[in-house]
Amino acid sequence: MRTGVFAEQDSHVHVTSRRVLLDSSEPLPEPLGGAVVPAGGTPAEVARVVRAALRQHGAAVVELAELLSDDDFRAFGTHLGTAMPETDPAVQPFVTDGVILNLVTRHAHTADISLQPFAENSLSLHTEGSGRTAGQQPRYIVLMCQDPGANPASAQTVLVPMSAVLHRLSPEHQAVLSRTRYAHLPAGETILRAHEGRAVFSFRDFFHDKLEWVNEAGDSAEVVDQALQELLSAMYAAGAVGVHWRRGLLVVVDNTYFFHGRTAGVSSPAHPRHLKRLRLH
Ligand SMILES: [Fe+2]
Repeated sequence: MRTGVFAEQDSHVHVTSRRVLLDSSEPLPEPLGGAVVPAGGTPAEVARVVRAALRQHGAAVVELAELLSDDDFRAFGTHLGTAMPETDPAVQPFVTDGVILNLVTRHAHTADISLQPFAENSLSLHTEGSGRTAGQQPRYIVLMCQDPGANPASAQTVLVPMSAVLHRLSPEHQAVLSRTRYAHLPAGETILRAHEGRAVFSFRDFFHDKLEWVNEAGDSAEVVDQALQELLSAMYAAGAVGVHWRRGLLVVVDNTYFFHGRTAGVSSPAHPRHLKRLRLH
């Protein structure tokens, strides 16, 4: 077993491609080639449409005939999984019913990570809950647009398919990542793992923070560093798409199929964007 620390350098390839992807205000192509499925009726009927799309694509983009009330939003969630409580004290002002997070742009650019979902910052690519064991991570992230805000083209939700990232990694680096985990996680909770017969990542771009890792096989620190660099380069190089939010759009992301993040936004205090989020496992 070997331990080490990965720290981003300005010279790393992904630093430039991340800036281009997330901070250049370029509109990205829409997910699933722009296909939007209409859905209406009861929460169960909406869930049926979403489940079919998830099975096919690992993501669902649905146009609701009518916005779901908070009760119906939670009821919709019960058809896909169990809602995870929002326990972070910093986000409590934005939580309703314990499980719905109201993502409203309220802050200018901030260094406070817990407030960044509510700020103009871009959000670096990640899988949800990568700091937890696989069993504690959400399977689905559900986002419903209440109000796109005054600048709907900004703050796009970015999705990057894991399969595209995987194909850009050499077999050697794939193997290294499947033997490497965050230092605080138990053995076997590796960055790349097999799940339902597929290769699934559990990883966050730590941005300026240091990533403490453990390699379970004794690969050299140089090789682990190269594998993490290659992973980050692949995440920011591979087929990103962006959700163009409008009122009534419901997007569900399977956390085992896509990395996600967000482009930088321009806040408009008089007319902020408002998404509602559920995390299901
Ligand atoms: Fe996230």
